Amino acid sequence: MTKIVAANFKTNLSRKDTKSYLDTLDKKLLTSDKIYIFPTPVSLCENSFTHLKIGTQNAYPVLNGAFTGEIGLSSLKELGINSILIGHSERRNILGESQDLCVKKFDFFAKEGFEIIYCVGEDLSIRDRGFEDVKRFIKSEFENIATDYEKLIIAYEPVWAIGTGRSANIHQIQETHHFIKEISSVPLLYGGSVNEKNVSEILDIDEVDGVLVGSASLDIDNFCEIILKAREK
Ligand code: PGA
Repeated sequence: MTKIVAANFKTNLSRKDTKSYLDTLDKKLLTSDKIYIFPTPVSLCENSFTHLKIGTQNAYPVLNGAFTGEIGLSSLKELGINSILIGHSERRNILGESQDLCVKKFDFFAKEGFEIIYCVGEDLSIRDRGFEDVKRFIKSEFENIATDYEKLIIAYEPVWAIGTGRSANIHQIQETHHFIKEISSVPLLYGGSVNEKNVSEILDIDEVDGVLVGSASLDIDNFCEIILKAREK
């Protein structure tokens, strides 16, 4: 199976920078690549590239209406966007998104046939308490989630590894992915300080079907190196 490589730009890169990034990247890609890019809301554009998919980092589970600051389905439809990140730890922890809201989003966008990249991952205090606690916590993030949804991709992203430069080690990724694969057999990405140096050994792990990259995707040369390494797998 070709490995999936997804980039989450978070709150980085202006609309202009995103456009030139996407135009350049699309020309370098092959048909066999499986690439997703999640730009900032204001940089969302027509999902009409040849080799890469544009997804949204967030949206509210409505067609449209009075939800200040949120994106509704009608705007996404106009751009042909049908991929969404749900449950990212920054939305759960910084923006206070509850499991209930994640479930509402999941059900709404699944009904609309979206591809959903659903993120789970424990913080350091849980990891420090041991693997049993990690398992219990991750299970709770799957509560009421249709883990057999056909267009689901899961991303395991330990919060303590996100943006810290400290990726989980191979054993931790292996063990946790093995556990998540028992919950769902859908493609499973690892995310958390993935870069051009560590991506190869991470992708070598059997139960890692791809990576979700934040910081290291912001520089197009770095991201292309990550893609090149993914192609070798
Ligand atoms: P990072 O972010 O690669 O900067 O750690 C990953 C993510 O949050 O998706």
